[in-house]
Amino acid sequence: MAMTPLVACVVLSISLGLIPSSLGVILRTMDKIVWANEFEPIELTCLIESISTNNPRIEWKKIKNGVPSYVYFQNKIAGDLEQRAQLKEPANILIFNTTRSDTAEYRCEVAAIDDQRDFDEILISLAVRVKPVVPRCSVPEAVTVGTSTELRCLENEGFPASQYRWFHNSEELPQDPKNHPKFINSTYSMNPDTGGLKFRRVRKEDAGEYYCQAKNEAGHAQCPPQTMEVYDVDILGIFLKVLAAVASGLVVTVCMYQCCKRLCFPKKGHNENNYNWPAQTSAFDYVDDDEGHFRHKSSFVI
Ligand SMILES: *[C@@H]1O[C@H](CO)[C@@H](O)[C@H](O)[C@H]1NC(C)=O
Ligand SMILES: *[C@@H]1O[C@H](CO)[C@@H](O)[C@H](O)[C@H]1NC(C)=O
Repeated sequence: MAMTPLVACVVLSISLGLIPSSLGVILRTMDKIVWANEFEPIELTCLIESISTNNPRIEWKKIKNGVPSYVYFQNKIAGDLEQRAQLKEPANILIFNTTRSDTAEYRCEVAAIDDQRDFDEILISLAVRVKPVVPRCSVPEAVTVGTSTELRCLENEGFPASQYRWFHNSEELPQDPKNHPKFINSTYSMNPDTGGLKFRRVRKEDAGEYYCQAKNEAGHAQCPPQTMEVYDVDILGIFLKVLAAVASGLVVTVCMYQCCKRLCFPKKGHNENNYNWPAQTSAFDYVDDDEGHFRHKSSFVI
């Protein structure tokens, strides 16, 4: 498409700086969304595309959770970034050593009093990546073959949120065992977002040392290996079964005793109450009621 002579003339004039004041101040940035690693420097760019005012007023504000505060005001770094940043030509801000609290939106504002369009601003969002810390891992010490179990791994410092990987005897477990011939018989499933490693049915081969690694773009950290033992038989289950057997044996014994007492002794009692025995009992029996009578008789008879 060919330029009309008028457009060509305007473009030429602008590029020669002949009519800048008609455009006013225009800002531009290299990145509207900036990622930085914690404890590393980062520069937020605020480039001035066009301006005719000699000493424009430059300000930077930090907006966190909707609340603005000055970080560059009256030609000085202020607030949160005091001693930690400097202004660089033309209006960039250089943070020497970012921290996680620097994650926020930053607004560069330039006021150019002599320009026709005398104000422009640009918004940059800064996200500071934070390395994961050592995750907390929980590995059961002992499980029984054929039962289900879950290993857990979690840390909360990393930003963006960590992804998790599990290692068994120093070998990384593939996320999906079904796709790997070596792990084809494993029954685990892994969730890299939550750090869970679930076994549907534990096998003897699943015994060994486990550790987990938390990882994000800023770095990684891992917990020390922990041993999981896998037992063929359920020792606790056996113990409980034995306990149950003993308990039921006890119940049967008590029942039999009670039954005998009710069914057998009344017969004996009847015999002993027989008045064929009075001569033998009178010497021992000082109690008149039937029960005492019965006791002394039986002990004597036996
Ligand atoms: C950045 O700050 C951290 C903690 O405030 C400090 O440990 C580290 O040494 C600093 N790094 C640099 C390059 O100054
Ligand atoms: C998986 O199980 C099948 C059948 O039990 C067996 O033949 C095969 O060797 C096992 N594979 C591995 C890698 O253990």
